[in-house]
Amino acid sequence: MKPTITPNNHEKKLADDDFIVSKTDTSGRITYANRIFMEIAGYPEHELLGVQHNIIRHPEMPRGVFRFMWNTLKAGDEFFGFAKNLCADGGFYWVFANITPDYDKNDKLQGYYSVRRNPPRSALEVLIPVYQEMLAIEKSSSVKDAPDKSLEYLFDVVKQTGAKNYNSLVLSLYKPNGV
Ligand SMILES: Cc1cc2nc3c(=O)[nH]c(=O)nc-3n(C[C@H](O)[C@H](O)[C@H](O)COP(=O)(O)O)c2cc1C
Repeated sequence: MKPTITPNNHEKKLADDDFIVSKTDTSGRITYANRIFMEIAGYPEHELLGVQHNIIRHPEMPRGVFRFMWNTLKAGDEFFGFAKNLCADGGFYWVFANITPDYDKNDKLQGYYSVRRNPPRSALEVLIPVYQEMLAIEKSSSVKDAPDKSLEYLFDVVKQTGAKNYNSLVLSLYKPNGV
């Protein structure tokens, strides 16, 4: 079962050469976690394996982002995005994530694969207010409509920046080595 954790303001930062890696089955249950993931999130391996990846979901992350993530993965595409994650002790850490569908040798989907790196602070400065507005939109919408409504806003922001699409915006915000 997902633990009840009270979030606090203690931030953990990934080093620029840290990679957090995890794999899931097709329903999002964790099947592999690397050492850095366990260290930063604060869980031993046996508390992660077989558990839904939302174990590290932070309440300040808009549902719309995850709606878009799953839509992208289910369409067979890779997802890029920034996420605030919750640690076992209530702290948090930001990541830039790349998630891809993971196929076996017969081209059958066997799950998903995620690699996360330290995001540049400049990207977070742009994204945090966008996520805050998405959350506010979700709070004032019905539970059913919330993710679509906040996603509409996210896509409006993408348009306003002049970026071609969501991916070009997030990839332009991300710069290697977390400057
Ligand atoms: C490979 C993979 C990696 C994921 N990584 C994260 C992550 O780092 N943080 C997170 O909150 N959700 C992550 N998710 C999404 C979760 O499975 C879940 O959809 C999300 O936390 C929203 O949870 P909720 O539906 O309970 O609100 C990942 C999913 C997959 C398939």
